[in-house]
Amino acid sequence: MFTSSTVSIPESSEVPRHLAIIMDGNGRWATRRMLPRTAGHARGVQAVRRVVEACGRRGVKYLTLFAFSSENWRRPQEEVSLLMRLFVQTLEKEVVKLEQQGVRLRVVGDLSAFEPHLRDLIQAAEERTRGNDLLHLTIAANYGGRWDILQAMRALLRERPDLADSPESLVEQDLAKHLSMAWAPEPDLFIRTGGEQRISNFLVWQLAYTELYFTEDYWPEFGAKELDAAFKWYRTRERRFGRTSEQLADKTR
Ligand code: FPP
Repeated sequence: MFTSSTVSIPESSEVPRHLAIIMDGNGRWATRRMLPRTAGHARGVQAVRRVVEACGRRGVKYLTLFAFSSENWRRPQEEVSLLMRLFVQTLEKEVVKLEQQGVRLRVVGDLSAFEPHLRDLIQAAEERTRGNDLLHLTIAANYGGRWDILQAMRALLRERPDLADSPESLVEQDLAKHLSMAWAPEPDLFIRTGGEQRISNFLVWQLAYTELYFTEDYWPEFGAKELDAAFKWYRTRERRFGRTSEQLADKTR
């Protein structure tokens, strides 16, 4: 279990240990080229491949990608179906490569909404890559940060029904250990492509002290060069976690 950024000060390093990305702009990338939006998602998968490889080479330990939010079901049915198909095809095609590259794959979110074939593929891919440790790749699918907090709360109350009698005894870690990514440290760096500057119900609990980087680049054009630009910016950040700059300069404090 990793420490919480609001309880103690986490380690920092030159390269983010945990990178979380909202891959936005697939639709606009395609529309600009007079292509159907779905073509943008297909190109988005290529960007996922590039970024996974680049993160592995640069020593990122955890990479979390927001592939489908709880709210994305509101999209046209045809686009939702295409995204599901892409997800299935990508899992079928890429899992062997991920296994060979030392990548451990996990999928987080409310998977009960997915069809059984997709759920089976997810489970098989997770099992197949379970022994890997070079890079922990997490795909957030039918995920929402508020859903995550609620499901954690439900799990906590099932575990400790006595809590209602002594709510003051509840500490952060009691809830945090039930979050769907409790096995990962909190993200050091968050990237959102596509120009929007919002969190969109991604890892709302875990982003408390994360550095937030927004770029105009559309996701299908994102790759190693763009990642390096984000990392360069990240290295300029002074991560104070509530302390003052003076305290940071005085390493004895
Ligand atoms: C946001 O772009 C992107 C998504 C909702 C889907 C992201 C999916 C992929 C990159 C492909 C599948 C991924 C995996 C891991 C198999 P948008 O459609 O909101 O773009 P827009 O804002 O320009 O309309």
